[in-house]
Amino acid sequence: MQTNQDIRIVPIFDQMANPKIWSDFTRLEMLCDTVKYGYRTDDSDRNRIFKGHMDDWKHEKYNFAFAAYDDKIMVGFVTGYREDKSTMYLRNLYVNPQYNGMGIGKKLLVQSERAANLIVPNMSVVSLNGAVSFYENCGYQTTDNRCLAKKISQNMVGVVPVFKTLLGGMRAKICVDYDKTLVRQCVHQPIFVYVTYEGEIDAVAIRTPDKEIKIWTNEKKRVMSDFYKKQLLRAFEKVK
Ligand SMILES: CC(C)(COP(=O)(O)OP(=O)(O)OC[C@H]1O[C@@H](n2cnc3c(N)ncnc32)[C@H](O)[C@@H]1OP(=O)(O)O)[C@@H](O)C(=O)NCCC(=O)NCCS
Repeated sequence: MQTNQDIRIVPIFDQMANPKIWSDFTRLEMLCDTVKYGYRTDDSDRNRIFKGHMDDWKHEKYNFAFAAYDDKIMVGFVTGYREDKSTMYLRNLYVNPQYNGMGIGKKLLVQSERAANLIVPNMSVVSLNGAVSFYENCGYQTTDNRCLAKKISQNMVGVVPVFKTLLGGMRAKICVDYDKTLVRQCVHQPIFVYVTYEGEIDAVAIRTPDKEIKIWTNEKKRVMSDFYKKQLLRAFEKVK
């Protein structure tokens, strides 16, 4: 029996680079829809759903995605995109029914909120019927029918991924505290930042195209301890 600790939550930086992510997710979504909501689906549905995801992905700017893996098997997934300047819109939160109740859905939601919180103060979602209480349990309030929302300003101390398409909002923020040349280098993915208790970005870490990891600390602030540096380095081990 797997425990919550065996499940890795992985930020998916470049979704288009690996279509297997979307075929894995399509399979997961169809399984959940059948088990939870009794939908019957076949191969033509599979193709349609897969194409729909790829299409959405191309059109939704400022997006993010996380997947939960049990070894190499995708057992959970979530995406989101920026709806307007103050709100991230959560989509596609699914957990394999065999793994329900292990805290995976909540973990995916919290990771999404942490990533979103770097650039917007609010999260919203249009929930499927069976998940409204799940969101309420996680601090969301119903605004209209199945629409729920949450103010996400929360303590997010630690390592947070910065998704490529969210970079526009981050760029100015990093530019204020760091060397401007860094901003040019930040076009490379993946990027992680270290966020302090005060909600400030204390360090930025990128992996260059030569697979070298570079970490910049904010020298105006405290010197970064080895512990935090290790946490930043470890984040790269999880990247897909
Ligand atoms: C909704 C869903 C994502 C929950 O995932 P999960 O991993 O089983 O949920 P978790 O184990 O993280 O549960 C977190 C908390 O919410 C509660 N919870 C989970 N599902 C719930 C539900 N349907 N109704 C009420 N509470 C629920 C859990 O009891 C737990 O409470 P606790 O923190 O007080 O112990 C999952 O059931 C799912 O994939 N459903 C089908 C697809 C779907 O409807 N997705 C939503 C799309 S908008």
